[in-house]
Amino acid sequence: MLKRLEDLAGEAVRIRIDGQTVEARLGDSVAAALLLSGLTATRTTVVSGALRAPYCMMGVCFECLVTIDGVANRQACMIDVKEGMSVQTQIEGQSGRAIR
Ligand code: FES
Repeated sequence: MLKRLEDLAGEAVRIRIDGQTVEARLGDSVAAALLLSGLTATRTTVVSGALRAPYCMMGVCFECLVTIDGVANRQACMIDVKEGMSVQTQIEGQSGRAIR
């Protein structure tokens, strides 16, 4: 379980994840916002279709790839949220919300 340190939380912003509006905080990475929203997977692998989710949270594992504002394969852990940002999971054949 991921929990935000409220003393360090920035200003509230709204982002959209797979079409649903979610509140995040300035300073959150997109990966943190995805996990805090309850998502358990952000993409599927190309070869086997296995589900993947953010793991290292520091730009090494590439398990957190998502589409951000229409640009595919962005590392969610390396990008901070911004007001109005649109994030789409890259899960083939199913919605990211459906697998919570
Ligand atoms: S979580 Fe590992 S690269 Fe983003």
